[in-house]
Amino acid sequence: MKIAVVGATGEVGRMMLTCLEEFRVEAQLDLFASERSAGQTLYFNDESIRVQKLEEDSLKQRYDYILMSAGGAISKSYAPIAAAAGNTIIDNSSAWRREQGIPLVVPEINGSELKGYSGIVANPNCSTIQMVLALYPLHLKYGLSKVVVSTYQSVSGSGHKGIATLEKQRQGIDDDGIYPERIDLNVIPQIGAFMDNGYSQEEDKMQYETQRIMSLTELKICATTVRVPVLYGHSETVYAEFEREVDVCEAASVLAAAPSIKYHDNTYFTPIQLGKSNDSHVSRLRCGVDNHSLAFWNVGNNVRLGAATNAVRILLKHRELNA
Ligand SMILES: NC(=O)c1ccc[n+]([C@@H]2O[C@H](COP(=O)([O-])OP(=O)(O)OC[C@H]3O[C@@H](n4cnc5c(N)ncnc54)[C@H](OP(=O)(O)O)[C@@H]3O)[C@@H](O)[C@H]2O)c1
Repeated sequence: MKIAVVGATGEVGRMMLTCLEEFRVEAQLDLFASERSAGQTLYFNDESIRVQKLEEDSLKQRYDYILMSAGGAISKSYAPIAAAAGNTIIDNSSAWRREQGIPLVVPEINGSELKGYSGIVANPNCSTIQMVLALYPLHLKYGLSKVVVSTYQSVSGSGHKGIATLEKQRQGIDDDGIYPERIDLNVIPQIGAFMDNGYSQEEDKMQYETQRIMSLTELKICATTVRVPVLYGHSETVYAEFEREVDVCEAASVLAAAPSIKYHDNTYFTPIQLGKSNDSHVSRLRCGVDNHSLAFWNVGNNVRLGAATNAVRILLKHRELNA
């Protein structure tokens, strides 16, 4: 298989290589980044690969898959060129997520949308992926009607520059960095710009994408997204209401049996424990305000599950359905 990774030197791009290795995807890779990183060497299955500068013609050749994580502007201009050449592109940016006709996929939930499809596939927002993986099996059992979520999102969610900002501030280096406020020793209730309705862009993404992935356009959902001084791993408090009566023990069994979920009973799980986990971790499951509601704590690795892992799972699902 021939795969191109665009944005290969970034937080997500490097993890793409790791995930392709871990999921034993046998491929010949072409790696692309900006002029800044052209000529750098990255490794895939112990083989050294030179990073190339992304150019107008780079994606006109035929690949089995193109994994893109170089930001929305690059996706907007290069993904259509790659698609016109007959390629299937799995894009990590938010550039195509609202486009009708472009599937927005978490394979465990709506992977069937990939059957017979070629072109651009949108990889959802990181905080959305880990949450919908937990909500979907509960929805199938009880009928989801309302969600209230608050997030605690790590600085790696903003890529290299987010990590560098936290590290410099922690070392006492005077650096404004990329956030609207100091992030070290602080929390910031703003991710992305604010819109006219008072919600931030990240909150809007979580609300829209959750409805779309689960095909629940009428779902009531309210998100508050917050940046915290954690390096890797997004955490979320999720409160969910259901049409049918819930039973906490039964809901725990549903989650324990669900794909890509790791359920923790009688304990809780924190982002520093994530290591190489590709799962969405659910703990502190309890009854909400009545017997039609549940509350839980949810943790996932934003660079893996929230980006690279889901992208590689899309690739594998697409290949399986279209073999
Ligand atoms: N980090 C996360 O948790 C996460 C989760 C989900 C989705 N995403 C999305 O994934 C994308 C990448 O995020 P990231 O965290 O990996 O960012 P990052 O660490 O800043 O990396 C950005 C990558 O894009 C490349 N790039 C930038 N400008 C380019 C250009 N003009 N031409 C070609 N390549 C260019 C960079 O190459 P250079 O090395 O040459 O600068 C680098 O490889 C973003 O759209 C982000 O929203 C990120």
